[in-house]
Amino acid sequence: MSGSDRAVEHTPVLLPQVLAALNVRASGVYLDATYGRGGHAGAIVEKLVADGRLLCLDRDPVAVAEARARFAADSRVSVFLAPFSALAACADHIAPGLKFDGILFDLGVSSPQLDDPSRGFSFMQDGPLDMRMSKGVGPTAADIVNGASEAELIRIFREFGEERFAPRIARAIIADRASKPFERTLQLAEMISRVARTRERHKHPATRVFQALRIHVNGELDELEAALNAAFERLVPQGRLAVISFHSLEDRLVKQFMRRHASTDPVYAGLPFVPAHAAPKLRLVGKAIQADSEETARNPRARSARLRVAERLNEGLAA
Ligand SMILES: C[S@@+](CC[C@H](N)C(=O)[O-])C[C@H]1O[C@@H](n2cnc3c(N)ncnc32)[C@H](O)[C@@H]1O
Repeated sequence: MSGSDRAVEHTPVLLPQVLAALNVRASGVYLDATYGRGGHAGAIVEKLVADGRLLCLDRDPVAVAEARARFAADSRVSVFLAPFSALAACADHIAPGLKFDGILFDLGVSSPQLDDPSRGFSFMQDGPLDMRMSKGVGPTAADIVNGASEAELIRIFREFGEERFAPRIARAIIADRASKPFERTLQLAEMISRVARTRERHKHPATRVFQALRIHVNGELDELEAALNAAFERLVPQGRLAVISFHSLEDRLVKQFMRRHASTDPVYAGLPFVPAHAAPKLRLVGKAIQADSEETARNPRARSARLRVAERLNEGLAA
């Protein structure tokens, strides 16, 4: 396989589990909020008949171009270049107030994004320190590394990377950038390796800082919070929400969101009458699902994947 062939590949994680979680019905309406290379989207479409629908979103123009080319002749599929926090506006574009039988989020970056050095996500290959999923839009990782104050860098590395050497790394950045701004991924990764030797097995010392910068540059946690709320509003009763996350910050947010909506408003806890607005609105479907050893052997990226599933309840009905 040539390098360019490999660059467009992405193996979908937990594919059978996602299809089961979404409970795909042939005439249903579905949303894949993170198209990537459409591994999940393609499998959903295969289950649809002529009046089924799939909306695909991605904020990355490269992913969207691939989706548009692939589904150009398929009237069941609509593709949007948009952040998933704007999913309601995309749905309204098809039909005002459109709701879904199932919504999928497969969070993070795709293999083609990670494997393309020019996107700047990788601390293993040299490239511009970019990290923007919405290619070309907004500040880059280099803008943050060269422009943020020491306190702000420490906050970013701690909050989004849970990096215990955050102050040491931030101090080294401030000292180095005065003479030579950070422009390349390896320039930053090698500096971190020098100042913060991690004792975490199988983890490059720059892993946490790169994760933190990526989350910050793309506003990933704010995006996710807004998108979960929007998705919740756009599910039909019995509609399914399936979310795959790849690190604990995302997974915690998803878990807390689902639990909150699967519980009675605590103001009414223990009271004999719970009004409809305070009753649970979601039902948790099983526990978090992880890839089995066969899948992780085939696709190491699946190792950290966690799939959480919830179902929208009829308005006013308790679980
Ligand atoms: C892990 S990949 C999805 C892979 C896909 N399920 C497949 O099987 O090919 C995540 C994708 O979500 C996109 N993405 C991440 N955050 C996004 C956001 N806030 N809005 C829209 N797309 C986002 C990324 O650009 C990337 O293409």
